[in-house]
Amino acid sequence: MTSSPTPLMRLDVISIFPDYLSPLSLSLVGKAIASGLVGLGVHDLRDWTHDRHRTVDDTPYGGGAGMVMKPEPWGEALDAVLDDDTEGTTLVVPTPSGVPYTQSLAAELATRKRLVFACGRYEGIDARVMTHFRDRVDTQEISLGDYVLNGGEVAALAIIESVVRLLPGVIGNPESLVEESHSPDLDGLLEYPVFTKPLEWRGLTVPDVLVSGHHARISAWRREQAEQLTSDRHPPAV
Ligand code: ADE
Repeated sequence: MTSSPTPLMRLDVISIFPDYLSPLSLSLVGKAIASGLVGLGVHDLRDWTHDRHRTVDDTPYGGGAGMVMKPEPWGEALDAVLDDDTEGTTLVVPTPSGVPYTQSLAAELATRKRLVFACGRYEGIDARVMTHFRDRVDTQEISLGDYVLNGGEVAALAIIESVVRLLPGVIGNPESLVEESHSPDLDGLLEYPVFTKPLEWRGLTVPDVLVSGHHARISAWRREQAEQLTSDRHPPAV
């Protein structure tokens, strides 16, 4: 009998739509979970409500459109899911008003023992929840980008995928983690274009330099392409 490895990381996600997290059973992340490298718990926030309607939201103080998630279910859910010892744990709250998510933040999260995701919906979670838990656990409010999703679940999926692939043993060939877009090995440049066989496809050929066998020239060409792509698509913010 083979014993499963000690998990490298424990993940917990709290959401009113636990089924939204089902893609976590697929692909590399799914394999990491199935093999025991990563532990996963998905929790329904409504399990911590006490009324007949399992209410999780209410109208905002101060007025305005939309609903706000009530603090009590979140408080009870996080009390239950977090351990007393929160050393090595980060509470991740996906929100469009969070700090922008980057590869270096992914690398930082990949060093943690445990990530707990609080996925808000509607206009967000009562701000006192973050104020309270910030004192008990490292808390990061993170935005995937300058656009608005309907809730934090898709952001949690994206963050989890980007973190789990950095854990040792998750990607078969760790060499593929170097020289990819946003990696430190490419100095923050976007990745150069890539090609595979056949040499000619629909009248388009692979750049000659890539079949030249000349490693220095290939490296120089890739660098040039990466710089060009970065200045076209991703110019540095001023
Ligand atoms: N929830 C809603 N929009 C979001 C975004 N852009 N990033 C993270 N979480 C979100």
